[in-house]
Amino acid sequence: MHTLTYEYIEGPSVKDIFLGFGLVGVDEERMVDIATQIGNAIGKLHDGGLVHGDLTTSNMLLRSAANQLVLIDFGLSFTSTLPEDKAVDLYVLERALLSMHSSCGDVMDRILAAYRKSSKQWSSTLNRLAQVRQRGRKRTMLG
Ligand SMILES: Nc1ncnc2c1ncn2[C@@H]1O[C@H](COP(=O)(O)OP(=O)(O)O)[C@@H](O)[C@H]1O
Ligand SMILES: [Mg+2]
Repeated sequence: MHTLTYEYIEGPSVKDIFLGFGLVGVDEERMVDIATQIGNAIGKLHDGGLVHGDLTTSNMLLRSAANQLVLIDFGLSFTSTLPEDKAVDLYVLERALLSMHSSCGDVMDRILAAYRKSSKQWSSTLNRLAQVRQRGRKRTMLG
């Protein structure tokens, strides 16, 4: 027999929290805490051989009770250990943060700082990310 278990996460999305920072000002300490949790979570995910495929702030919830980050919406996720796939995963998040959460300043730098500490393969992934930034996410744009 197989079972599929769902869990309801009580708490706001990171999207709503970050948009709130845009309205009332950035709570720097909270921003850094969330960014650190995001970097840690993605690093763990990637080292486990899983690429999320849709890393946006609406697919991240913060469990209120523990102030704990929870990634959701794995509908586009796939297994991969390729630096390319992991770099594109991070690149999608970077674009989303730049367009939706410009008020959060260096949030992506904070995320990547945590990712470096969390992922054993950070070096190959972040080298690749530098290339992805130059060409955009589409691999086919390369000659
Ligand atoms: N486990 C959960 N606990 C609480 N809310 C959830 C949970 N999963 C999804 N949601 C809510 O539903 C929304 C859409 O879910 P998601 O899995 O991201 O689907 P979609 O593919 O439509 O983006 C989320 O942004 C969140 O607000
Ligand atoms: Mg979603």
